[in-house]
Amino acid sequence: MAVFVTRRIPAEGLRVLSQAGGCLVQQWDSEEPVPRAELLAGVAGKRGLLCLLSDRIDREVLEAAGPGLKVISTMSVGFDHLSLDEIKKRGIRVGYTPDVLTDATAELSVALLLAACRRLPEAAEQVKNGGWTTWKPLWMCGYGLSGSTVGIIGLGRIGQAVARRLKPFGVKKFLYTGTCPKSECAAEFAAEFVPLTRLAEESDFVVVTCALTPATQGMCNKDFFGRMKKTSVFINTSRGAVVNQDDLYDALAHGQIAAAGLDVTTPEPLPTDHPLLSLKNCVILPHIGSATYATRSTMAVLAANNLLAGLRGEPMPHELLL
Ligand code: NDP
Ligand code: DGY
Repeated sequence: MAVFVTRRIPAEGLRVLSQAGGCLVQQWDSEEPVPRAELLAGVAGKRGLLCLLSDRIDREVLEAAGPGLKVISTMSVGFDHLSLDEIKKRGIRVGYTPDVLTDATAELSVALLLAACRRLPEAAEQVKNGGWTTWKPLWMCGYGLSGSTVGIIGLGRIGQAVARRLKPFGVKKFLYTGTCPKSECAAEFAAEFVPLTRLAEESDFVVVTCALTPATQGMCNKDFFGRMKKTSVFINTSRGAVVNQDDLYDALAHGQIAAAGLDVTTPEPLPTDHPLLSLKNCVILPHIGSATYATRSTMAVLAANNLLAGLRGEPMPHELLL
């Protein structure tokens, strides 16, 4: 069972593969992404592929792999980097890593929200650069969660975990949007299902936790930001492409919205001269939602177990149903 692993992953994950009888592992053993040519060469003739969200697995890769490829296991819950139509056509099974990263990502989403609404990076910078001269009544004020309305785009696993963590801050009302109402999940927060436009208009905080799909691509655009309140804060921990970044820049630069916090961008990494990085009211993190040691280790083990189960023709711990 020859497999290709596209990156250096936590040792626990690799151990699962190397201890499995009959699994021959070839790995791109680097912190940096595998170059496309190495990916195409590495996957050739393999039965299994363990990949990351930064690897675009499309027709070219599948053709380079050849008909022997039976399983793709991605060490991520997001699967927008996989060409599912092409994968399905070839009868390849796909494993992914839901649930195990929900807590870490929700925690980071809350941290980012607080950093953006209470202006933490900007304030910390003032301490270092001498901007802190005395206590001033109107200086470094931001917006708090108490009594607020929070709108969640995508009340899935992570969206619910975010709402659960925000509720004790004294949020008055939760709104959410998605493909259909989820009354059972929403009941815990008395969250109201509303159209995207109403969510934009009424929320003090918008948190994006949906999957990237053709329907969500570019969903947060000029019209969306134009409907938001001037005092509201926008947070995205899903995928960068859900947001039209030019429109977000305009909204932040012209005071259409108060602040934003992004853990995901397009492209990744965001070029260091990108206009969004020039704004004080935009906090940008390098896609670290799931980045706790324990979570990344668990993700690697799960991805390895998904791969092995697929190779053996057994039920996977977490299989994506195509
Ligand atoms: P889930 O599948 O549980 O949730 C995805 C949500 O997206 C669902 O609630 C779904 O709503 C919603 N959605 C789908 N289509 C639309 C739409 N057209 N409009 C609004 N909402 C929509 O996934 P998770 O919560 O586990 O993960 C969500 C995403 O978070 C991942 O796909 C990934 O991209 C991202 N992620 C980012 C991380 C980071 O490091 N920043 C870490 C982990 C995940 P419905 O049920 O109504 O279809
Ligand atoms: C995912 O899993 O989709 C995240 O973006 C990284 O953990």
